[in-house]
Amino acid sequence: MKNMIMANWKMQLSIKDGLVLAKQIAKQIKNSKSEVVICPDYASLPFIGPVLKKSFVALGAQDSAVTEYGAYTGEVSPVNLKSLGVSYVIIGHSERREHLHENSAIINAKIKAALGQKLIPILCIGEKLTERNNGETKKYLSSELRRALKGVKISNSNSLIIAYEPIWAISTNRSAKPILAEEADEVQSFIKQRAFKILKKTVRILYGGSVNIRNAEGFLAQQNINGLLIGAASLNFKDFSFICSI
Ligand code: PGA
Repeated sequence: MKNMIMANWKMQLSIKDGLVLAKQIAKQIKNSKSEVVICPDYASLPFIGPVLKKSFVALGAQDSAVTEYGAYTGEVSPVNLKSLGVSYVIIGHSERREHLHENSAIINAKIKAALGQKLIPILCIGEKLTERNNGETKKYLSSELRRALKGVKISNSNSLIIAYEPIWAISTNRSAKPILAEEADEVQSFIKQRAFKILKKTVRILYGGSVNIRNAEGFLAQQNINGLLIGAASLNFKDFSFICSI
């Protein structure tokens, strides 16, 4: 299975600026060894989808609703995402858990709804600094995986991806400091084993949190790191294309 480099643009770009960046990426990132995915905000998807259509780069969304259709004001249906050319959906990002109070039950429903539309969910999990300092990282991740993946069935190893993003290492966190690649690898090996127990499939595990041009190669060299989920560094074309070229 190929590595994956996934850009999470969060809510950082105007539609105009996102289009400029997407056009550059579509035109110039052609033969990366990794699969490349960009995840713009919802409002930009209908504009960026056509730009990526005949390119090497796939389209992802940053979230999707718990069900296909219904009275869910403000939510976006996975059916509509699919029809916009979206292939991947980030689910359970720590910023949504924190600011929008998403819990494991919601995340579980979103994963199932996305899979129902043959979208590939990227389930994000990661411990807070307190859990890390208390030596409870694995206990927390294990319970989170069990709850988020409860009753989830996948047909093959490519149907779902997990992203390990230690919350304290994400660049929007003021106290962010990078994790050592070896430490991330060790945790990801654990996640891979736990996910296998639940899903009966070996899924890819991406690493995310303050990835940049200086540390990306070290992460990608690790056995249990099958790609990267990149926030801040994905907004800069030079940095992002360099990471895609590793
Ligand atoms: P960062 O964000 O690369 O800016 O730390 C990663 C993420 O939040 O997905």
